[in-house]
Amino acid sequence: MPRINVLPEEVRNYISCGEVIESPYSVVKELVENALDSGASRIDVKALDAGLSFISVTDNGSGIAYDELPLAVAPFATSKIKCKNDISQVRSLGFRGEALASVCNVAALKIFSSVADGVAGGMIYREGGREIDYRKFACPKGTTVEVRKLFFNAPVRKRFLKSPKYMNGEILRIVQEYALSRPDVVFSLRIDDKNYFNDLDASDDERARVLKIFGFENADYAEIANPVMGLRCFAYPLEYKSSRRWQFIFVNKRPITNSAFLKAAENAFEGYLPRGKHPPLFIYMTASSGIIDVNVHPAKREIRFQSPRTFYQMVYDVLRNKYSKNKMAVYPGKPEIPGDSAAPPPALPLQGADAPKTTGAMIYTQGHCAAAAHTGAEGRKPEAPDAGIRWDNFRYVGKSHGKFLIFSTPDAIHIMDFHAAAERINYEKIQLKITSGNIAAQKLLVPVEVKLDASEIDALKENSAFLVKLGLALKYSIRSVFVQSLPAGFSGLEKDMLEKISACLIDGKKHNDIFESLADRAVKIIACHMSPRAGDDIRAHEAEAFIGELKKCSEPLRCPHGRPVMFTIPVSKMDLVLRR
Ligand SMILES: Nc1ncnc2c1ncn2[C@@H]1O[C@H](COP(=O)(O)OP(=O)(O)OP(=O)(O)O)[C@@H](O)[C@H]1O
Ligand SMILES: [Mg+2]
Repeated sequence: MPRINVLPEEVRNYISCGEVIESPYSVVKELVENALDSGASRIDVKALDAGLSFISVTDNGSGIAYDELPLAVAPFATSKIKCKNDISQVRSLGFRGEALASVCNVAALKIFSSVADGVAGGMIYREGGREIDYRKFACPKGTTVEVRKLFFNAPVRKRFLKSPKYMNGEILRIVQEYALSRPDVVFSLRIDDKNYFNDLDASDDERARVLKIFGFENADYAEIANPVMGLRCFAYPLEYKSSRRWQFIFVNKRPITNSAFLKAAENAFEGYLPRGKHPPLFIYMTASSGIIDVNVHPAKREIRFQSPRTFYQMVYDVLRNKYSKNKMAVYPGKPEIPGDSAAPPPALPLQGADAPKTTGAMIYTQGHCAAAAHTGAEGRKPEAPDAGIRWDNFRYVGKSHGKFLIFSTPDAIHIMDFHAAAERINYEKIQLKITSGNIAAQKLLVPVEVKLDASEIDALKENSAFLVKLGLALKYSIRSVFVQSLPAGFSGLEKDMLEKISACLIDGKKHNDIFESLADRAVKIIACHMSPRAGDDIRAHEAEAFIGELKKCSEPLRCPHGRPVMFTIPVSKMDLVLRR
């Protein structure tokens, strides 16, 4: 066994900074936090080359005295706490005294600072933890921190960084978060040659800031008063999105991540938004120091609550009360709100533990419904999806309850959900067109506007050749994209498509994967839209045509969403039950 060594300070610093500085956005985050803690009323952020070659944050806050500059970059040196007890009371964003020391271990860092106008300030320059320069320097009140050559001495870390587009998206997101948390501070952000928000005006109104950054028009707002905690939520359900990037939580003006909170909030909308859609949410909370603990994670993104359930319930209740059924669009067929009155209808008893996953027609057995198609039960070879169905001699008997078509064959009665059947047929037709590259672009007489944020618009712009392949012609403005043409049959899905595509592009997904997942998703929706619904009139020859079309499908017995298309009762079973 090799001997145990105490690592030299330089190595210790290098290892510990990894937890704080994981990507260029972490640098931006730490510098913006310092600027806010200094009491600044204005903060300007700049980044070049996804922050790898240059990041600067300038503020007009308290400044750092010339003789304290070396302390500012020393590890565990902070002006924000003095002893252990202070941690539980801490209100500032930083308190560990680690951030600047961590940055200068993996980059070249310069600080220019002065505590008052007209008073000589100072400059300190460190690179890889080593001091290069330190002198008096004339500068206005406040601080500018410049970071260059990020991860110059950490090649492994550099290799594992995400794409520049992704990192720019992270920088934008982190500055958005702080700008949202502190509407009283003027912010500007410039990445490369692009201004993301130019001089966001200062005000005390969080909602005004939300509108300024995201431009949501269907503003809605709920607020409750609580003796222990102030909770303010802004939700924009009508601006629903395909991802959760528009959901923010702030506790005591600190942006935090807490999926349980977001889940609680989203549950309040269950049944009111299309499945898979997420409402933009802005949750602001004020909690007294005694009931939260911020010293949980080096990046201070997590907070421990004394009684999390109470908080989740409160978030749920405030949104649930505000967005009651009467006030919002109800999307049919979606799950009920937990605890709401109407329980879902009892399910038909299915055979086998895996029965609900059935992918095919249901066949009646004694007292049960069993899947004719494979149940996915372990160790059992899946049967062909249409096992048990012979497609010949289907005779249309009639329609029942406005939604079922009844057919008879020599050995069974079949009850078909005709909407599901039509979905399956349309789905396979459209899929064929897409995969064979035959999707025709459809020009729109009046372009459709889709509101997106800056990072989404950038991602689309950079991939215009790919979009053309999809039949999409787009025109861009600051906050919107105008769809001039789209794949034929896709109209009405512009917003959904563009959000999905841009989210995938930002996440660095490959074009082929995007194409497949998008095509599949869009096709399912289109097939559903194009298909007849319950109550639609249907003629005998159309009903029988369904059988012919279904027969041609690769998976005729389930709709694209996985629901069974047909319920079959064999005559033998009827004989048994009716004692014939
Ligand atoms: N922009 C700034 N304006 C004024 N003082 C600053 C600024 N940036 C840093 N400082 C001073 O430098 C000290 C060290 O900053 P650093 O970010 O390393 O630690 P911290 O903010 O105290 O804690 P944390 O590591 O949690 O961020 C701060 O405590 C503060 O006194
Ligand atoms: Mg700090």
